[in-house]
Amino acid sequence: MRGLRVGLLGLGVVGAGTWEVLTRNAEEIARRAGRRIEVAAIAVRDVAKARRLVGDGVLVTSDGMEVVRHPAIDVVVELIGGDTVARAWVMEAIRRGKHVVTANKALLAIHGNTIFSAAREHAVMVAFEAAVAGGIPIVKAIREGLAANHIQWVAGIINGTTNFVLSEMRARGLSFDDALAQAQQLGYAEANPTFDVEGVDAAHKLTLLASLAFGIPVQFDKVHIEGVSKLAQEDIAHAERLGYRIKLLGIARRRPDGFELRVHPTLIPADRLLANVEGAMNAVLVSGDMVGPTLYYGQGAGALPTASAVVADLVDVARLDSADPDHRVPYLAFQPDALDDTPVLPMAEIVSSYYLRLRVEDRPGVLADLSRILSAAGISIGSMFQTPHGDSDADIIFLSHDAREGAVDGAIDRIQALPFVKSGVTRLRVEHLL
Ligand code: HSE
Repeated sequence: MRGLRVGLLGLGVVGAGTWEVLTRNAEEIARRAGRRIEVAAIAVRDVAKARRLVGDGVLVTSDGMEVVRHPAIDVVVELIGGDTVARAWVMEAIRRGKHVVTANKALLAIHGNTIFSAAREHAVMVAFEAAVAGGIPIVKAIREGLAANHIQWVAGIINGTTNFVLSEMRARGLSFDDALAQAQQLGYAEANPTFDVEGVDAAHKLTLLASLAFGIPVQFDKVHIEGVSKLAQEDIAHAERLGYRIKLLGIARRRPDGFELRVHPTLIPADRLLANVEGAMNAVLVSGDMVGPTLYYGQGAGALPTASAVVADLVDVARLDSADPDHRVPYLAFQPDALDDTPVLPMAEIVSSYYLRLRVEDRPGVLADLSRILSAAGISIGSMFQTPHGDSDADIIFLSHDAREGAVDGAIDRIQALPFVKSGVTRLRVEHLL
């Protein structure tokens, strides 16, 4: 059988990694795919540099459309990122009847519905294992391995940069800025690091995980997003004292009246496996009604781990491109005409436990007033501690039992209006992941 001919868009970290994996493991990959997978064309900004890496025998051009429209190309691998040029090239590849493999989570989280619908119309595959959690085969695990389940929830550490930053802040007491600079030096961060630290990259990935888990259209605009840039060192320390660690989690949860989709710093009990995922590693916990909790761990970024996922998709394309398009694995795990239109819940309707920290005057009646407000809002206190601040103030930390976020918002407003309260209320969510 003739080889599968690949057109690579981009030869940066992941593009060069993909070239290396396809070259170094060519025999093993062909044994699995049933035929060779050959890079036939590459579009790249610096043609001379690319030529030095790949040698002769491969078309190297600075024009992505030349690759996308090349009649000899079977599958386009999009590794340039962003959602403008990448979108145009991907859509053109689909219109030309070429399969697409992409690592571009932003593109799919924002334009996925259009892209999958065009791909269906043109009977081509769009595969995106590398878009979520790098080398961890989480897309395949949810889409295929857990296909027997109602998935109840997904909770993931899906941004290595922020996990590295939080790990360094906790273990070595580094400031946020110093830890981020290190993550950037190590090459984990996105080109625009605000995507990492403000939770946007994790939200792109969560959008895709939620669609795969629940069979819902991609809805990036409905994800509640909070990053880690405002997280105070003292909250990391208080959490530790209470037996918790703070992680930036992407959480997707099925509730009777809708889905929760949220990314935010989260306290999790320190003895949970997820709490012990350190450095730039990623991990995703998926709970299904039949299988129970399952955990997937590995490198979420980097040249070879991400390329491992890209090449796995290429192997799928090589095996399935001659299959009847209606009998391939659906893009979002569920048949396209069986997607669920149950809404994503507004943040006020989500249910979580809460960590609340505030500074107060240390005098009689303060705790009683605070408890009265929490109690009136139906919020039950799980534990509480107080540390002195100067001669006359104290910092108070509450951990609540499960409560509705809207009730907590209301209680925070009332607490902040009290005359003896001397700071805003810091609110973090707590998940027990059971
Ligand atoms: N910037 C991402 C991260 C890597 O830090 O996890 C690729 O998604």
